[in-house]
Amino acid sequence: MLLRDFLKEGISRLGSLYPPSEARDIMLTLAESRLGTGRYVYATDPDYSLNEESVNILSHDLARLETGEPLQYVLGYAEFFGRRFKVTPDVLIPRPETEILCDEALRLASGILSERKALGNSTPLRVLDLCTGSGCIAWTIALEIPGAQVYAVDISEKALAVASGQDIRQSEAEAPVPERSRRPVFHQADILQDPPHFPCETFDLILSNPPYIMESQKKDMRTNVLDYEPSIALFVPDEDPLLFYRAVARWAGSLMAPGGMGIVEINELLGPRIHDLFLDSGFEKARIIKDFAAKDRFVFFS
Ligand SMILES: C[S@@+](CC[C@H](N)C(=O)[O-])C[C@H]1O[C@@H](n2cnc3c(N)ncnc32)[C@H](O)[C@@H]1O
Repeated sequence: MLLRDFLKEGISRLGSLYPPSEARDIMLTLAESRLGTGRYVYATDPDYSLNEESVNILSHDLARLETGEPLQYVLGYAEFFGRRFKVTPDVLIPRPETEILCDEALRLASGILSERKALGNSTPLRVLDLCTGSGCIAWTIALEIPGAQVYAVDISEKALAVASGQDIRQSEAEAPVPERSRRPVFHQADILQDPPHFPCETFDLILSNPPYIMESQKKDMRTNVLDYEPSIALFVPDEDPLLFYRAVARWAGSLMAPGGMGIVEINELLGPRIHDLFLDSGFEKARIIKDFAAKDRFVFFS
């Protein structure tokens, strides 16, 4: 079978689930990943032919995609901040917006570290990631800031197994993470309860992308998210959508070091309420940060 025929068939079979450009993108990514070829080999080499084994693997993948299963679960990984993270149905698939949270956190981290350097203070950066899921935020900060002490918590044992088992390298040639950098430390904890004791006691940066979709927003969501991603990672009750932000504010109130800062990812409908929640919880400053689509997506607090 020719690759271009398989791609054509796949795009058509995914047509009832995704807009054409997205169906095409999914099929090209699938083929690129499974065949290890360039993305456009079907065009540069129109006679590119699939052997029997490749047809079997790709057909099995296509059958899974056709049920609405997200491509990242089919492939077993998601790209985030230029790295490949293992994902299973026990963890949320990291979203591109969350890269903005990491960018902002790295900017704050570099400010804190420069100030310390100017004062001759060599205390490492201490970072806490609440509701870590796949660990994408914790790992990104740990890898981008060598020497940072990163702790991360989640309520789900299964998510923590994925997060702590990540084997992230930027290229095949790169050494595995444990040999070249500190790994984040993952803890099981319910952030709706009191915080446990952490060895570093306080943190310079507290980050969180907690569940924030209201149950009433389910009707606007695609079935591939609803049927496959863990609902514990997504939803909050309509009657208390600020539940997790109160918890983050409470943890940050007792765990944030003097001069520390925090960033939370938020539901775009709740920006001003979450902004005010942090001010009402005793933080001096709060600021809303927008995402790629100019929607309220993060709140900074300090
Ligand atoms: C929106 S996901 C975020 C995952 C990851 N940080 C990311 O940005 O892709 C929210 C995470 O919160 C966790 N979670 C839900 N309730 C929790 C609780 N009470 N305490 C701690 N973690 C919780 C879920 O297991 C899930 O992994």
